[in-house]
Amino acid sequence: MKKMIIAGGSGFLGQNLASHFKEQFDEIVILSRKISCSKENVNVRFVQWDGVSQGEWSKELEGAAVLINLAGKSVNCRYNRENQRKILYSRLNATGALTIAISNLVQKPKVWLNAASATIYRHAEDKDMTEATGEYGEGFSVNVCTAWENAFLSASIPSIRKIALRIGIVLGKDDGVFIRFKNLVKFGLGGKQGKGTQFFSWIHVEDFCRSVEWLIDHEDQVGIFNITAPAPVTNRFLMHQFRRAMNCSIGLPSPEWMLKIGAVLIGTETELILKSRRVVPERLVESGFEFSYPTIPVALRNLI
Ligand SMILES: NC(=O)c1ccc[n+]([C@@H]2O[C@H](COP(=O)([O-])OP(=O)(O)OC[C@H]3O[C@@H](n4cnc5c(N)ncnc54)[C@H](OP(=O)(O)O)[C@@H]3O)[C@@H](O)[C@H]2O)c1
Repeated sequence: MKKMIIAGGSGFLGQNLASHFKEQFDEIVILSRKISCSKENVNVRFVQWDGVSQGEWSKELEGAAVLINLAGKSVNCRYNRENQRKILYSRLNATGALTIAISNLVQKPKVWLNAASATIYRHAEDKDMTEATGEYGEGFSVNVCTAWENAFLSASIPSIRKIALRIGIVLGKDDGVFIRFKNLVKFGLGGKQGKGTQFFSWIHVEDFCRSVEWLIDHEDQVGIFNITAPAPVTNRFLMHQFRRAMNCSIGLPSPEWMLKIGAVLIGTETELILKSRRVVPERLVESGFEFSYPTIPVALRNLI
C-alpha cells in the first residue's frame, strides 16, 4: 500500500496537496491537533497528534512512502513575545517529534519534504536570491527559518532523502493572501503598497503541488529548493496586474505609515508586505521542472 503522511496538513497547502495526490496514493494521512475527517476525499484520513510528543500517531509512519511536514503556527499575526514563541516552537517541536518518530521506524519513508520559507533570504531589490548564491537576512523571521531548517537538516537519518522547501507566497483561490489582494483591488485600494519597489516571490498553488510531486519523483534531487515561480515581480507591477485582471481602473496606493496602522488594526505585520523577496527557483529549473504558471499575468488570469 502506497501511503503519504502530511503533518500539519489541515491547512491551505496540506489540503491542496491532499487533493493533488489523492489518486496517486492509496492512503493519505493528515496529522492534525484536531479530530476531523475529509468530506471530499475518501482515502484521506485525519490522525491526531500534538506536534510535540510521541504517541499512537507515530505508528502511521511505519512503511509510508512519503512524509511532508507543514506544521507551524501561522505567521499572519502580531510578532509579540507570545506569538514569536509559538511561531518558532510549533515548527521546531513538530520537526523534532517527526525526527524521533522516524528514527524508531523499521521501514522509514523514502523521502521527507519539510516546509521552510523563502523569507530566509535578505531584503533584496538588487539581485536574485538562488539556493547557491542567496544571502541570508536577519531578524526574527529569518532566525525562525534558520532554526527550522537546521532542526530538519541537521539530524542525519541515512536512508531518507530530505528536501527543504523554501516556499514563496503561494497564490490559490481559497487562500487568505490572494483573497486579501483581491479585496483591496475591489475596494479601490489596489495601488502600490509602500514604495512598490519591493519584490514579491510567489507561486501558483498548482505549481506548488506539481513541484512537490516533481521532487518526490526525481530520486536524484535532495537538499534545499526555492519553491517560487521563476519571475518574482515588484509590488507595483503585482498590483497593476491585479487591477488589470479585475478590470479596475482606480487603485489608491497605501503608504508605509498607513500600512503600519492597518497592520496593528488587523493583527498582522507590515514585514509580510514590505520585505522584498527576490527569490528564484534555480535548482528546480535546472532539474528540468516546467512551470504551468511562470508569470504573474498568466497566474492571475487563471485565478481571477
Ligand atoms: N502558504 C504560504 O504561502 C507559505 C509560504 C511559505 C511557507 N509556508 C509554510 O508552509 C507551512 C504550511 O502553510 P499553510 O499555508 O498550509 O499554513 P496553514 O494553513 O496555517 O496550516 C499550517 C498547519 O500547521 C498546523 N499547526 C498550527 N499550529 C501548530 C502547532 N502549534 N503545532 C503543530 N501544528 C500546528 C495546523 O494544523 P492543525 O491545527 O490541524 O494541527 C495547520 O493546519 C507553514 O509552516 C508555513 O509557514 C507557507
